Amino acid sequence: MGLKVGVLGIGPVGEHIVRILGERKFPVDGPLTIMATRERDEIIDEMPVSVQKVSEDLFKKLDLVFFAGKEGAKGASLEWADIAVKNGCVVIDNGGDLRMYPGIPLVIPEINMDSVTKDTRLICNPNCSTIQMALALYPLHKASRVRRVIVSTYQSVSGHSGGAMELLKAEIKQVLSGESVQEYPAIFARSASFNCIPHIDRFEKNGYTREEMKMVNEPRKIFNEPNLLISATAVRVPVLVGHSESINAEFMEPMNAQKAIEILSNPVLSPGVVYIDGITDDKNSLEIRHDPLERRYPVASDIEKVEWKDSVMVGRIRDDMTVPNAINLWCVSDNLRKGAATNAIQIAEGMLEKGLL
Ligand SMILES: NC(=O)c1ccc[n+]([C@@H]2O[C@H](COP(=O)([O-])OP(=O)(O)OC[C@H]3O[C@@H](n4cnc5c(N)ncnc54)[C@H](OP(=O)(O)O)[C@@H]3O)[C@@H](O)[C@H]2O)c1
Repeated sequence: MGLKVGVLGIGPVGEHIVRILGERKFPVDGPLTIMATRERDEIIDEMPVSVQKVSEDLFKKLDLVFFAGKEGAKGASLEWADIAVKNGCVVIDNGGDLRMYPGIPLVIPEINMDSVTKDTRLICNPNCSTIQMALALYPLHKASRVRRVIVSTYQSVSGHSGGAMELLKAEIKQVLSGESVQEYPAIFARSASFNCIPHIDRFEKNGYTREEMKMVNEPRKIFNEPNLLISATAVRVPVLVGHSESINAEFMEPMNAQKAIEILSNPVLSPGVVYIDGITDDKNSLEIRHDPLERRYPVASDIEKVEWKDSVMVGRIRDDMTVPNAINLWCVSDNLRKGAATNAIQIAEGMLEKGLL
């Protein structure tokens, strides 16, 4: 017997939740209840789905609801999460509004599923850029304790919303046909086509953006390390789906590239992580760009590969030559899957395994 499951919000994240629940054969009893701000019919993967206008009555019939709505005062979580819980639902929320509340677990199942207990009714998914960084760093942290991280992101436009992907495609067409680009600052602060924008979400008073501060604060809660030092620069790049990150990490105990490779290439020590790397031995090769080994490192388009689509891919692991016990690495993941929908569904699967759902 399955669970009565709802999905609130049907942008790219909500759509992926619907798709991945099916892919992973999550035990759903009857049709999914899909909710948004207004009623209509939609097509997902060539299947018609009916979207209902969210209301308190709908939550009364559900056991579990994945929230994938907009953030902020008029967003789905602040408006509906409490109501869903009061009506007996377990809520797994993709938005950022409730993540840092004490008492609400912020969960990456491979790291801290133990923060979900029998009393937990509301769980938050971390931010997409946090999930991939934390999953790549946690196995190294367990071995040698991270002291300080400097991270720069290369984030795809789908991280903003479905509208952002459409806008990027429209902008690219305008540029290629010689038209002037029409800017929509509500979506991209600056034109996104053929551009890199060091501005994701709002600026805070300290000069960092909210996206950057999510990467500073969320790992502290997930790792249960309130003094973890993280410095982030978050950049939007003209990629449709798939975030990349350049991470420099310094450790309190011995760490070097070789040790990091040993840990991150071991699936038992590093669940959810795939290590992809390779440098040709033939340094004189004129065909170097055609050498498949030389080109082995993860890139955003690798999220299309079935075997990697739900992983955090890590490569380019090098010693930091400027300080001891420090490394550089490159990591890539699908922001809509492991960065959002897959992680949320893995939390629900973890709860089922523990008998909490
Ligand atoms: N995109 C990513 O890579 C990513 C990764 C991690 C986390 N997240 C988070 O996941 C959430 C969803 O992201 P998205 O990119 O799919 O967003 P999106 O494209 O903006 O879609 C939001 C959906 O939520 C619905 N919605 C908005 N406000 C609502 C409210 N007050 N009550 C009920 N429904 C409401 C919208 O309804 P209508 O369709 O009726 O307008 C829409 O279906 C956001 O909180 C985002 O921050 C996104």
